[in-house]
Order: sequence, then structure tokens, then C-alpha cells
Amino acid sequence: MADEGHDGTASGTSMPFDTSVAHVARVYNYWLGGKDNFAADRAAGEQAIKAFPEIGLSARSNRAFLARAVRFLAQESGIRQFLDIGTGIPSASNTHEVAQSVAPASLIVYVDNDPIVLNHARALLTSDPAGATDYIDADLRDPQGVLAGAERLLDFSRPVAVMLMAVLQHLDDEDDPYRIVETLLEPFPPGSYLALSHPAKDINAEAMARMAESLNRMMAEKVTFRDNAAVAKFFDGLELVDPGMVQASKWRPINETEAASPAALWAGVARKP
Ligand SMILES: C[S@@+](CC[C@H](N)C(=O)[O-])C[C@H]1O[C@@H](n2cnc3c(N)ncnc32)[C@H](O)[C@@H]1O
Repeated sequence: MADEGHDGTASGTSMPFDTSVAHVARVYNYWLGGKDNFAADRAAGEQAIKAFPEIGLSARSNRAFLARAVRFLAQESGIRQFLDIGTGIPSASNTHEVAQSVAPASLIVYVDNDPIVLNHARALLTSDPAGATDYIDADLRDPQGVLAGAERLLDFSRPVAVMLMAVLQHLDDEDDPYRIVETLLEPFPPGSYLALSHPAKDINAEAMARMAESLNRMMAEKVTFRDNAAVAKFFDGLELVDPGMVQASKWRPINETEAASPAALWAGVARKP
């Protein structure tokens, strides 16, 4: 548990972030059983648990999908460059750990707009010496800014996997999320990939609606959950690999327990032709 002072700011050091309002990176950390969260995050996290008691399992299922997708990309698709946007506070099986366990020379660029994630960037930058990692403090709503930062490390003439794991729900329809995803894929050559997961409006629909309402009341970042058709649209023009876009727990699970998890997310991995 993060230490908290009387005024709602972290004690001991001057923190560059507001702890009096819940933020998604820290609420998600709470659901995953992490210690990098504050009272407001835990209150928002608990309200969401009341609405959708399986959110903790769903969050873990999302992390497991992330790890399987990165392993697939590194092992079976030969991807050596990853652009992981909406990284979150470091957790188990971070992208560079999985990718570099397969191919130590892999290059990973992390992007997030929350100062607490920036605070943890050092843990994300512990690259295998054969490869490299970088961290960009940037907003997904500025895809050109994200790409300009990514070019510091990535070679845009070689394939890149763009990863958008449980982050697009923080863009509402007015942000034009489909154009943003298209812009992010645009500079990369054929053989590049898009890997994404997205909270589902139409899995466990009533509980998810209650959770969205609760999070939108208590959290700084608002959420828009999307249904199967709306999430599938992010893959337009790309070739989904087997088994297509499915519930996150059903994407190449490694055992029965993973497959049975009540993940309320749509997930898929697709190749740029
Ligand atoms: C639910 S967490 C997902 C973390 C990780 N991708 C995963 O799947 O385990 C969402 C993350 O996206 C980040 N985020 C939200 N909106 C963002 C934006 N507009 N630009 C960049 N990052 C954003 C949050 O700060 C948070 O760390």
C-alpha cells in the first residue's frame, strides 16, 4: 500500500501526482493486488468490484492475454520491436520481460500519460543488454507525438507490434479512436501487428454497465466500453490471426484455468498485410 499523508498527497517525497482522485493506472494496480494505490483508488476499485465482482479475475486474465500475445509475436511471428501504449504500472510479465525471454535483442517502447507510471519507468527500462527499452510520457490522443517519440528507438522500416491493451476504452467516440489506431499503424511496413484488448459492453452486460457508471463517477479517466462489432472495427484492413477476436481468456489459453477465466474483454492480434 502506498503511504499517504493527511492532505491526500504521498508522504516522504513530493509526488508529482494527485492522490485525492482515483486514476485508472492505480485502480487497475489495486485490482491486480498491487501496492501502488491510494485511498481514492481503492474506494473506486471497491465500488467497481461491487458492480462486477469478477473484475479482479478479468484484470488478471487481461495480463495473461498480454503475455500470450507478446510470446506469440516474438516466437511465432518473429517480431523484435514493440510499441506498448497505455503500459500501466509495472506488473508480472511486462512486455520487455516476455519478449526478451524469447529474443533478448527485442526493442520495446512503453507509452503512458499517467505520472505514476512515469515514476515507475525505471522498472520498465531494465532491458536485457542485447536489446533496449524506452519510455515515453505521452497521450494516445496524440498519435503523431507517440510515433515521433517511438522513432528514438524503433526502426520504422522493420515490422513493429503496436499494443493497445485495455486502454482504448479511455478514448470516447469523439476522440475518433479508429483514426488514432489507423494513424499508429500507418508508418509501419507489412508484417507489422496490432494486438489489443478492450473491455466488453456485451459480455456480462448488466454488470459491465454498472461498473462503467461507477468508474465514470469516481475515476479521473472516463471509460467507454464497446461491443463486439465496435471492437472488431479496430482490426479493419488487417488479418486477424487464429482464433480471431475472442474473449481475452479464449485467445490461445495455455490451460483450462486460463480458458475458464471470466474475462470481460474482447481481444485479438492481427497482421498488417
Ligand atoms: C487499465 S490500464 C492497462 C495497463 C496495461 N496495458 C495492461 O493491459 O495490463 C490502462 C493504462 O492506460 C493508461 N492511459 C489511459 N488513457 C491514456 C491515454 N490517453 N494515453 C496514454 N495512456 C493512457 C493509464 O494511465 C493506464 O496505465
